[in-house]
Amino acid sequence: MKKIFKWIGWIVGIVVGLLIVALLGVYVVSTMQLNKTYQVEPAALTIPTGEAAITEGGRQFLTRGCIDCHGENGAGKMVVDDALIGHVIASNLTPGKGGVGQNYTDMDWVRAIRHGIGPDGKPLVIMPSVEYNAINDDDLGTIVAYLKSLPAVDHTPDPITVGPLGRVLLVSKAIPVLPAEQIDHDAPRPVAVAKGETVEYGHYLAQTCMGCHGEGLSGGPIPGLPPDPPNPQNLTPDPESGLGKWDEADFALVMRQGQRPDGTAVDPAKMPWPAFQHMTDEELNALWLYLQSVPAKPYGER
Ligand code: HEC
Ligand code: HEC
Repeated sequence: MKKIFKWIGWIVGIVVGLLIVALLGVYVVSTMQLNKTYQVEPAALTIPTGEAAITEGGRQFLTRGCIDCHGENGAGKMVVDDALIGHVIASNLTPGKGGVGQNYTDMDWVRAIRHGIGPDGKPLVIMPSVEYNAINDDDLGTIVAYLKSLPAVDHTPDPITVGPLGRVLLVSKAIPVLPAEQIDHDAPRPVAVAKGETVEYGHYLAQTCMGCHGEGLSGGPIPGLPPDPPNPQNLTPDPESGLGKWDEADFALVMRQGQRPDGTAVDPAKMPWPAFQHMTDEELNALWLYLQSVPAKPYGER
């Protein structure tokens, strides 16, 4: 009997020892990745000036979801507040005290938004540049014009910390903690898709949906986040769990008023329809065309 306990003691000791070594490894590797510097000189972009560009940029700031993390005034909000995952506060983008707008150059804006890299060359945490890399020059130009017009707000966000679980997610690449790692920074710019009620334009706009609804748009819990319902739904044409039985008016009702065909409400805290209601008819039509064109999939295959 005593011998067995001794053996169990040894095994537990070895397992604990291995876990400590593994965690130390994760800590070392994640620290290296967080501190890695990237040399990226983004392609030059002409930033438009004038009221029309700024207004359009403000609309893009909403419909592209920037407002969800950077807040209505652009001064930054808490994005993740979890002892295990970490504490991540989105940057203050205004020219106020603690805001990057004080000394950002046009190149710095482009590098941060398209490449997920700060002016010091380090990768930005959580900032979803994988989705934003595809934003074309015209749209990005108006977004930057808008950001440069933001009134100053004094707010110094607390430094970002990545907790033990956040570091495991980072190293295992279970979620894009550092989007800069997933972007091909030397790739030629994609050809701009013309605006219009087309599947292609809908695909361009649907980048914004994929972070939550999944790359294949079939929904399910978002990897790396607690799976608290309601979770993103299946947007593919699957007749059972997807939008197979919906028509365009049903879709527009969700996007404009947060209401499903059966009258139930879509949670505005989870699905940013209050921002999407600022999409134009052309954008919604294009999105709907694209959603109908994707392969039907059962719920939750991401
Ligand atoms: C899911 C949340 C989220 C969304 C959506 C988001 N951001 Fe960010 N963004 C962040 C976080 C967090 C940081 C800070 C990252 C860091 O400092 O490592 C950041 C950093 C930035 C920076 C770099 C600022 C700096 O500190 O140097 C810019 C510029 C920026 N975001 C612009 C945008 C724009 C424009 C959009 C919309 C097109 C957007 N962000 C959408 C979370 C987000
Ligand atoms: C921040 C995460 C997030 C983003 C971004 C997002 N969604 Fe959602 N969406 C959700 C969640 C969560 C739900 C479920 C909400 C509920 O049931 O109350 C949902 C529900 C929906 C529904 C209702 C589906 C149904 O069967 O009831 C539609 C339609 C939809 N989203 C379309 C879109 C489109 C189109 C985009 C991109 C333009 C998008 N969503 C972007 C999280 C998101």
